[in-house]
Amino acid sequence: MIIGILKEERKGETRVAAVPDTVKKYTAAGFEVLVEKEAGQSAGFPDEFYRVAGGNIVSREKILRQADILIKIWCLPKKDFPLLHAGQILMADMETYHHPEYAQSLSTLGIDVLALEKMPRISRAQGMDILSSQSNLAGYKAAILAVDLLNRGTALMMTPAGTIAPAKALILGAGVAGLQAASTLKRLGAVVYVSDVRAAAKEQAESLGVKFLTVDANADFENKKGYAAGVSRDFLLRQKRIVAEQLKQTDILITTAFSAGKKAPLLADDKMLAGMPGNPVVVDISGGNVAGKNLRPDIVFIQDENLATKLPNSASRLFSGNVWNLISTYGGTAFNISADDEIMAAIRIVKPQAKRRKKQ
Ligand code: NAI
Repeated sequence: MIIGILKEERKGETRVAAVPDTVKKYTAAGFEVLVEKEAGQSAGFPDEFYRVAGGNIVSREKILRQADILIKIWCLPKKDFPLLHAGQILMADMETYHHPEYAQSLSTLGIDVLALEKMPRISRAQGMDILSSQSNLAGYKAAILAVDLLNRGTALMMTPAGTIAPAKALILGAGVAGLQAASTLKRLGAVVYVSDVRAAAKEQAESLGVKFLTVDANADFENKKGYAAGVSRDFLLRQKRIVAEQLKQTDILITTAFSAGKKAPLLADDKMLAGMPGNPVVVDISGGNVAGKNLRPDIVFIQDENLATKLPNSASRLFSGNVWNLISTYGGTAFNISADDEIMAAIRIVKPQAKRRKKQ
Protein backbone atom coordinates (compact mmCIF):
# COMPACT_ATOMS: atom_id res chain seq x y z
CA MET A 1 0.00 0.00 0.00
CA ILE A 2 1.57 3.29 -1.13
CA ILE A 3 0.92 6.67 0.48
CA GLY A 4 1.70 9.79 -1.56
CA ILE A 5 2.47 13.16 0.00
CA LEU A 6 2.31 16.04 -2.45
CA LYS A 7 3.60 19.59 -2.30
CA GLU A 8 0.84 22.19 -2.00
CA GLU A 9 0.69 24.36 -5.08
CA ARG A 10 -1.58 27.21 -3.90
CA LYS A 11 -0.13 30.67 -3.42
CA GLY A 12 0.46 31.39 0.26
CA GLU A 13 -0.03 27.78 1.35
CA THR A 14 2.90 26.84 3.56
CA ARG A 15 1.66 23.60 5.14
CA VAL A 16 2.25 19.97 4.22
CA ALA A 17 -0.29 17.20 4.81
CA ALA A 18 2.10 14.73 6.44
CA VAL A 19 5.19 15.47 8.54
CA PRO A 20 8.26 13.22 8.94
CA ASP A 21 7.21 11.93 12.40
CA THR A 22 3.99 10.63 10.86
CA VAL A 23 5.87 9.17 7.88
CA LYS A 24 7.82 7.12 10.42
CA LYS A 25 4.52 5.78 11.77
CA TYR A 26 3.27 4.95 8.24
CA THR A 27 6.42 3.04 7.34
CA ALA A 28 6.36 1.20 10.69
CA ALA A 29 2.75 0.24 9.92
CA GLY A 30 3.83 -1.29 6.60
CA PHE A 31 3.14 1.53 4.11
CA GLU A 32 5.54 2.61 1.41
CA VAL A 33 5.67 6.44 1.48
CA LEU A 34 6.39 8.61 -1.58
CA VAL A 35 7.09 12.29 -0.98
CA GLU A 36 7.29 15.05 -3.58
CA LYS A 37 10.53 17.06 -3.58
CA GLU A 38 10.35 20.00 -1.13
CA ALA A 39 6.82 19.04 -0.03
CA GLY A 40 7.56 20.05 3.56
CA GLN A 41 10.21 22.73 2.97
CA SER A 42 8.01 25.75 3.74
CA ALA A 43 6.77 24.13 6.96
CA GLY A 44 10.30 23.46 8.22
CA PHE A 45 10.59 19.84 7.11
CA PRO A 46 13.37 19.44 4.50
CA ASP A 47 13.50 16.38 2.22
CA GLU A 48 16.27 14.87 4.36
CA PHE A 49 13.89 14.54 7.35
CA TYR A 50 11.48 12.53 5.20
CA ARG A 51 14.30 10.27 3.96
CA VAL A 52 15.42 9.61 7.54
CA ALA A 53 11.79 8.81 8.43
CA GLY A 54 11.68 6.17 5.68
CA GLY A 55 10.06 8.16 2.84
CA ASN A 56 11.25 8.18 -0.78
CA ILE A 57 11.58 11.55 -2.50
CA VAL A 58 10.22 11.14 -6.03
CA SER A 59 8.57 13.18 -8.80
CA ARG A 60 5.01 14.45 -8.51
CA GLU A 61 4.09 12.48 -11.61
CA LYS A 62 5.26 9.19 -10.06
CA ILE A 63 3.24 9.88 -6.90
CA LEU A 64 0.09 10.72 -8.85
CA ARG A 65 0.40 7.55 -10.91
CA GLN A 66 1.47 5.11 -8.18
CA ALA A 67 0.05 6.12 -4.80
CA ASP A 68 -2.94 4.19 -3.47
CA ILE A 69 -3.71 6.95 -0.95
CA LEU A 70 -2.96 10.59 -1.77
CA ILE A 71 -2.86 13.02 1.13
CA LYS A 72 -3.20 16.76 0.54
CA ILE A 73 -4.11 19.89 2.49
CA TRP A 74 -6.30 21.07 -0.44
CA CYS A 75 -7.76 19.23 -3.43
CA LEU A 76 -5.47 18.43 -6.36
CA PRO A 77 -5.41 20.98 -9.18
CA LYS A 78 -7.23 19.91 -12.34
CA LYS A 79 -3.98 19.54 -14.32
CA ASP A 80 -3.13 16.53 -12.10
CA PHE A 81 -6.36 14.66 -12.86
CA PRO A 82 -5.22 12.94 -16.09
CA LEU A 83 -2.41 11.16 -14.21
CA LEU A 84 -4.78 9.51 -11.73
CA HIS A 85 -6.51 6.17 -12.12
CA ALA A 86 -9.66 4.58 -10.75
CA GLY A 87 -9.37 3.02 -7.30
CA GLN A 88 -7.01 5.63 -5.80
CA ILE A 89 -8.06 7.40 -2.61
CA LEU A 90 -7.66 11.16 -2.08
CA MET A 91 -7.91 12.73 1.40
CA ALA A 92 -7.97 16.53 1.61
CA ASP A 93 -10.00 19.58 2.46
CA MET A 94 -12.03 19.41 -0.74
CA GLU A 95 -13.94 22.67 -0.13
CA THR A 96 -17.10 20.81 -1.01
CA TYR A 97 -19.18 23.59 0.51
CA HIS A 98 -17.94 26.11 -2.06
CA HIS A 99 -16.72 23.92 -4.95
CA PRO A 100 -18.61 20.62 -4.92
CA GLU A 101 -17.69 20.10 -8.59
CA TYR A 102 -14.02 19.18 -7.81
CA ALA A 103 -14.87 16.25 -5.59
CA GLN A 104 -17.66 15.15 -7.91
CA SER A 105 -15.47 15.16 -11.01
CA LEU A 106 -12.76 13.13 -9.26
CA SER A 107 -15.37 10.72 -8.06
CA THR A 108 -16.67 10.37 -11.62
CA LEU A 109 -13.12 9.33 -12.61
CA GLY A 110 -13.38 6.51 -10.08
CA ILE A 111 -11.23 8.22 -7.41
CA ASP A 112 -12.46 7.63 -3.86
CA VAL A 113 -12.56 11.07 -2.29
CA LEU A 114 -12.63 11.66 1.46
CA ALA A 115 -13.60 15.28 2.09
CA LEU A 116 -11.97 15.94 5.45
CA GLU A 117 -13.83 19.21 6.04
CA LYS A 118 -17.04 17.20 6.39
CA MET A 119 -15.87 15.36 9.52
CA PRO A 120 -18.87 15.06 11.87
CA ARG A 121 -18.76 16.76 15.29
CA ILE A 122 -18.85 13.64 17.42
CA SER A 123 -16.35 12.83 20.14
CA ARG A 124 -15.04 9.76 18.25
CA ALA A 125 -14.07 12.01 15.32
CA GLN A 126 -12.29 14.71 17.32
CA GLY A 127 -8.80 13.37 16.62
CA MET A 128 -9.50 13.33 12.87
CA ASP A 129 -11.04 16.79 12.62
CA ILE A 130 -8.86 19.08 10.50
CA LEU A 131 -11.19 22.08 10.94
CA SER A 132 -10.79 21.93 14.72
CA SER A 133 -7.04 21.45 14.69
CA GLN A 134 -6.47 24.28 12.22
CA SER A 135 -9.03 26.61 13.88
CA ASN A 136 -7.32 26.14 17.20
CA LEU A 137 -4.04 27.40 15.74
CA ALA A 138 -5.78 30.20 13.83
CA GLY A 139 -7.32 31.44 17.10
CA TYR A 140 -3.95 31.34 18.81
CA LYS A 141 -2.24 33.23 15.97
CA ALA A 142 -5.03 35.83 15.84
CA ALA A 143 -4.41 36.63 19.51
CA ILE A 144 -0.62 36.82 19.09
CA LEU A 145 -0.96 39.05 16.00
CA ALA A 146 -3.36 41.38 17.78
CA VAL A 147 -1.08 41.72 20.80
CA ASP A 148 1.88 42.38 18.52
CA LEU A 149 0.06 45.10 16.57
CA LEU A 150 -1.46 46.85 19.58
CA ASN A 151 0.43 50.01 20.49
CA ARG A 152 0.22 49.27 24.21
CA GLY A 153 0.92 46.39 26.58
CA THR A 154 -1.77 43.81 27.32
CA ALA A 155 -0.84 42.88 30.90
CA LEU A 156 -1.27 44.90 34.07
CA MET A 157 2.13 46.44 34.88
CA MET A 158 2.79 48.23 38.15
CA THR A 159 6.12 49.97 37.85
CA PRO A 160 7.86 52.78 39.76
CA ALA A 161 7.16 54.96 36.70
CA GLY A 162 3.44 54.32 36.82
CA THR A 163 0.79 51.68 36.24
CA ILE A 164 -0.31 50.27 32.90
CA ALA A 165 -3.86 48.92 33.00
CA PRO A 166 -4.48 45.59 31.26
CA ALA A 167 -5.84 45.76 27.71
CA LYS A 168 -9.43 44.68 27.13
CA ALA A 169 -10.31 42.17 24.43
CA LEU A 170 -13.58 40.99 22.96
CA ILE A 171 -13.95 37.73 21.06
CA LEU A 172 -17.03 37.15 18.92
CA GLY A 173 -17.66 33.45 18.39
CA ALA A 174 -16.54 31.09 21.14
CA GLY A 175 -15.96 27.93 19.10
CA VAL A 176 -12.59 26.23 18.81
CA ALA A 177 -10.78 29.31 17.40
CA GLY A 178 -12.52 31.83 19.66
CA LEU A 179 -11.85 29.93 22.88
CA GLN A 180 -8.18 29.49 21.94
CA ALA A 181 -7.91 33.22 21.15
CA ALA A 182 -9.58 34.00 24.49
CA SER A 183 -7.31 31.79 26.57
CA THR A 184 -4.18 33.01 24.76
CA LEU A 185 -5.11 36.66 25.41
CA LYS A 186 -5.89 35.85 29.01
CA ARG A 187 -2.47 34.22 29.43
CA LEU A 188 -0.96 37.44 28.05
CA GLY A 189 -2.71 39.42 30.76
CA ALA A 190 -5.66 40.96 28.88
CA VAL A 191 -9.14 41.18 30.38
CA VAL A 192 -11.19 39.06 27.98
CA TYR A 193 -14.90 39.04 27.12
CA VAL A 194 -16.57 36.65 24.68
CA SER A 195 -19.95 36.47 22.99
CA ASP A 196 -21.66 33.54 21.30
CA VAL A 197 -25.15 32.35 20.40
CA ARG A 198 -24.77 28.83 21.80
CA ALA A 199 -25.59 28.45 25.50
CA ALA A 200 -22.80 25.87 25.97
CA ALA A 201 -20.24 28.52 25.06
CA LYS A 202 -20.93 30.42 28.31
CA GLU A 203 -19.78 27.56 30.50
CA GLN A 204 -16.80 26.84 28.24
CA ALA A 205 -15.70 30.50 28.32
CA GLU A 206 -16.13 30.78 32.08
CA SER A 207 -14.13 27.61 32.64
CA LEU A 208 -11.21 29.44 30.98
CA GLY A 209 -11.67 32.35 33.38
CA VAL A 210 -12.95 34.80 30.76
CA LYS A 211 -16.18 36.79 30.94
CA PHE A 212 -19.23 35.93 28.83
CA LEU A 213 -21.52 38.66 27.48
CA THR A 214 -24.99 37.24 28.04
CA VAL A 215 -27.68 38.49 25.65
CA ASP A 216 -30.54 36.28 26.80
CA ALA A 217 -29.97 33.69 29.54
CA ASN A 218 -32.73 31.48 28.11
CA ALA A 219 -31.67 31.49 24.47
CA ASP A 220 -29.68 28.68 22.86
CA PHE A 221 -29.10 28.48 19.11
CA GLU A 222 -27.23 25.20 18.66
CA ASN A 223 -28.44 22.52 16.25
CA LYS A 224 -28.01 18.75 16.62
CA LYS A 225 -24.76 18.85 14.65
CA GLY A 226 -23.20 21.32 17.11
CA TYR A 227 -23.44 24.35 14.80
CA ALA A 228 -25.04 27.70 15.55
CA ALA A 229 -28.40 27.76 13.75
CA GLY A 230 -31.71 29.58 13.64
CA VAL A 231 -30.51 32.70 15.46
CA SER A 232 -33.46 35.09 15.73
CA ARG A 233 -33.30 38.65 14.39
CA ASP A 234 -34.35 39.96 17.76
CA PHE A 235 -31.46 38.17 19.48
CA LEU A 236 -28.96 39.46 16.90
CA LEU A 237 -30.18 43.04 17.35
CA ARG A 238 -29.89 42.82 21.12
CA GLN A 239 -26.47 41.17 20.80
CA LYS A 240 -25.32 44.01 18.50
CA ARG A 241 -26.33 46.59 21.09
CA ILE A 242 -24.45 44.79 23.87
CA VAL A 243 -21.40 44.28 21.65
CA ALA A 244 -21.42 47.96 20.56
CA GLU A 245 -21.47 49.01 24.20
CA GLN A 246 -18.62 46.63 25.07
CA LEU A 247 -16.54 47.88 22.10
CA LYS A 248 -16.40 51.33 23.71
CA GLN A 249 -13.91 49.85 26.17
CA THR A 250 -12.23 47.27 23.89
CA ASP A 251 -8.65 47.47 22.60
CA ILE A 252 -8.61 44.14 20.73
CA LEU A 253 -11.51 42.61 18.81
CA ILE A 254 -11.17 39.11 17.36
CA THR A 255 -14.02 37.69 15.31
CA THR A 256 -14.29 33.96 14.61
CA ALA A 257 -17.98 33.22 13.97
CA PHE A 258 -18.42 31.01 10.93
CA SER A 259 -20.01 27.67 10.21
CA ALA A 260 -18.61 25.43 7.50
CA GLY A 261 -20.54 25.97 4.28
CA LYS A 262 -22.28 29.14 5.42
CA LYS A 263 -21.52 32.80 4.86
CA ALA A 264 -19.92 34.32 7.97
CA PRO A 265 -22.52 36.52 9.73
CA LEU A 266 -21.83 40.26 9.89
CA LEU A 267 -21.40 40.96 13.61
CA ALA A 268 -19.59 44.31 13.75
CA ASP A 269 -20.11 47.21 11.35
CA ASP A 270 -18.00 50.35 11.01
CA LYS A 271 -20.39 52.36 13.20
CA MET A 272 -19.97 49.90 16.07
CA LEU A 273 -16.20 49.85 15.64
CA ALA A 274 -16.01 53.65 15.55
CA GLY A 275 -16.70 53.62 19.29
CA MET A 276 -13.49 51.71 20.12
CA PRO A 277 -10.95 53.76 22.12
CA GLY A 278 -7.33 54.60 21.14
CA ASN A 279 -5.76 52.70 18.23
CA PRO A 280 -7.55 49.37 18.49
CA VAL A 281 -6.68 46.18 16.64
CA VAL A 282 -9.37 44.12 14.89
CA VAL A 283 -8.55 40.64 13.60
CA ASP A 284 -11.25 38.86 11.60
CA ILE A 285 -10.54 35.22 10.83
CA SER A 286 -14.07 34.46 9.63
CA GLY A 287 -13.86 36.44 6.40
CA GLY A 288 -17.13 38.26 7.01
CA ASN A 289 -17.86 39.14 10.65
CA VAL A 290 -16.50 42.66 10.23
CA ALA A 291 -17.54 45.21 7.61
CA GLY A 292 -14.02 46.49 7.00
CA LYS A 293 -14.58 48.96 4.16
CA ASN A 294 -15.24 52.26 5.91
CA LEU A 295 -13.30 51.67 9.09
CA ARG A 296 -11.87 54.54 11.09
CA PRO A 297 -8.36 54.93 9.62
CA ASP A 298 -6.61 54.54 12.97
CA ILE A 299 -8.07 51.06 13.50
CA VAL A 300 -5.58 48.31 12.63
CA PHE A 301 -7.60 45.77 10.67
CA ILE A 302 -6.46 42.30 9.65
CA GLN A 303 -8.70 39.88 7.79
CA ASP A 304 -7.28 36.42 7.15
CA GLU A 305 -9.30 33.22 6.84
CA ASN A 306 -6.26 30.99 6.69
CA LEU A 307 -4.12 32.03 9.64
CA ALA A 308 -2.99 28.45 10.27
CA THR A 309 -0.62 28.93 7.31
CA LYS A 310 1.29 31.43 9.45
CA LEU A 311 2.18 28.59 11.83
CA PRO A 312 2.97 25.98 9.17
CA ASN A 313 5.12 23.76 11.34
CA SER A 314 2.51 23.28 14.07
CA ALA A 315 -0.41 23.31 11.62
CA SER A 316 1.19 20.58 9.49
CA ARG A 317 1.91 18.44 12.56
CA LEU A 318 -1.74 18.60 13.64
CA PHE A 319 -3.17 18.06 10.13
CA SER A 320 -0.80 15.12 9.73
CA GLY A 321 -1.94 13.71 13.08
CA ASN A 322 -5.60 14.03 12.02
CA VAL A 323 -4.99 12.04 8.82
CA TRP A 324 -2.91 9.42 10.62
CA ASN A 325 -5.77 8.95 13.10
CA LEU A 326 -8.20 8.49 10.22
CA ILE A 327 -6.03 5.98 8.35
CA SER A 328 -5.06 3.97 11.42
CA THR A 329 -8.63 3.91 12.77
CA TYR A 330 -9.91 2.47 9.48
CA GLY A 331 -7.42 -0.37 9.15
CA GLY A 332 -4.04 1.10 8.19
CA THR A 333 -2.65 -0.83 5.19
CA ALA A 334 -6.01 -2.62 4.96
CA PHE A 335 -7.75 0.76 4.83
CA ASN A 336 -11.49 0.17 4.77
CA ILE A 337 -13.05 3.02 2.87
CA SER A 338 -16.34 1.16 2.73
CA ALA A 339 -16.78 1.09 6.52
CA ASP A 340 -20.45 1.45 7.26
CA ASP A 341 -20.41 4.13 9.94
CA GLU A 342 -21.23 7.77 10.68
CA ILE A 343 -17.75 9.10 9.96
CA MET A 344 -17.27 7.47 6.54
CA ALA A 345 -20.85 8.28 5.60
CA ALA A 346 -20.15 11.96 6.30
CA ILE A 347 -16.80 12.36 4.54
CA ARG A 348 -16.93 9.94 1.61
CA ILE A 349 -18.01 11.50 -1.67
CA VAL A 350 -20.46 9.25 -3.41
CA LYS A 351 -20.13 8.91 -7.16
CA PRO A 352 -22.98 10.78 -8.84
CA GLN A 353 -25.55 8.43 -10.35
CA ALA A 354 -25.89 8.58 -14.13
CA LYS A 355 -29.03 10.58 -14.88
CA ARG A 356 -31.97 8.35 -15.71
CA ARG A 357 -33.76 8.99 -18.94
CA LYS A 358 -37.21 10.36 -18.49
CA LYS A 359 -39.93 7.96 -19.57
CA GLN A 360 -41.46 9.03 -22.85
P1 NAI B 1 -17.77 27.34 14.17
O1 NAI B 1 -16.54 27.42 13.35
O2 NAI B 1 -18.96 26.65 13.65
O3 NAI B 1 -18.21 28.85 14.57
C1 NAI B 1 -17.53 29.61 15.50
C2 NAI B 1 -18.42 30.04 16.63
O4 NAI B 1 -19.20 31.16 16.20
C3 NAI B 1 -19.42 29.00 17.16
O5 NAI B 1 -19.21 28.85 18.54
C4 NAI B 1 -20.78 29.65 16.87
O6 NAI B 1 -21.75 29.34 17.85
C5 NAI B 1 -20.43 31.11 16.89
N1 NAI B 1 -21.40 32.03 16.31
C6 NAI B 1 -22.19 31.86 15.23
N2 NAI B 1 -22.97 32.95 15.05
C7 NAI B 1 -22.63 33.84 16.04
C8 NAI B 1 -23.07 35.14 16.40
N3 NAI B 1 -24.04 35.79 15.74
N4 NAI B 1 -22.50 35.73 17.48
C9 NAI B 1 -21.53 35.13 18.17
N5 NAI B 1 -21.10 33.89 17.89
C10 NAI B 1 -21.64 33.25 16.83
O7 NAI B 1 -17.43 26.75 15.58
P2 NAI B 1 -16.44 25.59 16.02
O8 NAI B 1 -15.13 26.16 16.35
O9 NAI B 1 -16.40 24.54 15.00
O10 NAI B 1 -17.14 25.07 17.37
C11 NAI B 1 -18.53 25.00 17.61
C12 NAI B 1 -18.81 23.91 18.67
O11 NAI B 1 -18.62 22.62 18.13
C13 NAI B 1 -17.89 24.02 19.88
O12 NAI B 1 -18.60 23.70 21.04
C14 NAI B 1 -16.86 22.95 19.63
O13 NAI B 1 -16.25 22.47 20.80
C15 NAI B 1 -17.74 21.89 18.94
N6 NAI B 1 -16.93 21.01 18.11
C16 NAI B 1 -16.95 19.66 18.37
C17 NAI B 1 -16.21 18.81 17.60
C18 NAI B 1 -16.24 17.32 17.91
O14 NAI B 1 -16.83 16.94 18.89
N7 NAI B 1 -15.64 16.49 17.09
C19 NAI B 1 -15.38 19.28 16.48
C20 NAI B 1 -15.49 20.73 16.25
C21 NAI B 1 -16.23 21.54 17.06
